[in-house]
Amino acid sequence: MEATNPFREDLATRTRPEPCTVVIFGASGDLTGRKLIPALYNIAADGELPPTLKVVGFARREKSHESFREELEAMNRKVSRSGHNDQLWASFQQNIFYHRSEFEDAEGYQSLARLLDSLDDAGAGGNRLFYLSVAPEYFPIVLRGLAAAGLNQPKPGKWARAVIEKPFGTDLATADALNQVVSETFKESDTYRIDHYLGKETAQNLMVLRFGNALFEPVWNNRHIDHVQITCAENLGMEGGRGGYYDKAGCLRDMVQNHLLQLVMLTAMEPPADLTADGIRDEKVKVLKSLRPFKDAADVARNVVRAQYTTGTSGGKSVPGYREEDRIAPDSMTEAYAAIRINIDNWRWEGVPFYLRVGKQLPKKATEISIHFRKPPHVLFNRGTGEDSANVLVVRIQPDEGISLRIQSKIPGPAVRMERVKMDFQYSTSFGKASPEAYERLLLDAMSGDATLFARRDEVEWAWRYIDQIEQAWHQSPEPPPMCSYPAGTWGPAEADALLAADGREWRRL
Ligand code: BG6
Repeated sequence: MEATNPFREDLATRTRPEPCTVVIFGASGDLTGRKLIPALYNIAADGELPPTLKVVGFARREKSHESFREELEAMNRKVSRSGHNDQLWASFQQNIFYHRSEFEDAEGYQSLARLLDSLDDAGAGGNRLFYLSVAPEYFPIVLRGLAAAGLNQPKPGKWARAVIEKPFGTDLATADALNQVVSETFKESDTYRIDHYLGKETAQNLMVLRFGNALFEPVWNNRHIDHVQITCAENLGMEGGRGGYYDKAGCLRDMVQNHLLQLVMLTAMEPPADLTADGIRDEKVKVLKSLRPFKDAADVARNVVRAQYTTGTSGGKSVPGYREEDRIAPDSMTEAYAAIRINIDNWRWEGVPFYLRVGKQLPKKATEISIHFRKPPHVLFNRGTGEDSANVLVVRIQPDEGISLRIQSKIPGPAVRMERVKMDFQYSTSFGKASPEAYERLLLDAMSGDATLFARRDEVEWAWRYIDQIEQAWHQSPEPPPMCSYPAGTWGPAEADALLAADGREWRRL
């Protein structure tokens, strides 16, 4: 039976997750202290966590339960969305445990099983959520280790689920191989592939905006929309030792294959027949299947721009170029920026390009989707000025979450002159509280058995099919498209502007 879906209900009536134990593999990594534990703590602060929930950190470093808890507490004080309450932490931390083992060590999983049994005896309830926050090469090792110890098999009447962090493979072949191991160990319905963009309130609100209002859907097509832009800008580089991972991945694999294509799917999908996890994911996959394939490397060069930043200024400080960053090869050919013209070959979107741009060391952190409507068919006002009178609907994913609509308005006075104005909705002022962190929502959903906001196997594979064509043109063709450049702290390379200029359009200024 498919779990009830929160899109259908008030949060107030949503079922609380059942008691369970969350086992985090790779618990000494950054994600645990920075995101996962603060998310669980904040769910507890909101009173939505089963009081008997237990957390077990599984990692290779030597640590006691106490030292693990102290590290987590120090980090929670720094990053927790709702602040840090000593009393709440004191009771929360009693349920956190540390289990040291190598990932390859079969005995480590046997002793984990014994620990989990003893936690069940202490009231954990028997359900288990295995969260894999490990380097990708360890995914199969951990999954097989769990299976060998029988931990993938739930106890009667209980469940065992696997949550898998990105990156989910590095191309279609590796994703496929990984999916194979996953399917040998956990059922698809018990597999939760994380894409934290789906946990963002504003990304979820896209469906509500489109399908909960009668106003937008009739104009959400190629008769009324000229083009769509999706921007995901970051104003950081390779701080904190990220370079080692990033230089192997690049922006296409790190951001586009997952987060950006998810935003494309949510913007372009047809209304689902119902709001079940598969009802929604079926429609999303259809979008990926409709992405126009590239003909060859020259076609990739016409539609995709890749770039690296050079020395520049960010936040008033001078910052190094990509190739001078820590753990980046001085002759690296990995892109830190990409701009893509995507064509969706279906009835709704034929002739409406989706332009994506995403990169590091841009002037600010901002993610948004802008829907650019067609101009009025006949110009009555401001004739001859060449001013852009098109309406633009902007969905601000982060920060400053909200939605705005650009319209034309008459300038007060005797002359009939018009000017652009903005109708603006802001989450913070309308709802008066900060949105929960993406990981809070995703952990709650995984514990409640709702897979709507997680990527399904076919979704991940179709996304890789699209990305692989670009990677192949860049890295395997005899005449690869050029690597462009932009000074850090600027809005990307001139070639990305030329991509839109060739279509008579320009990037929205953020
Ligand atoms: C991660 C990428 O998935 O998303 C990072 O690996 C990126 O490179 C991050 O910085 C951005 O997430 P957010 O939520 O800050 O936009």
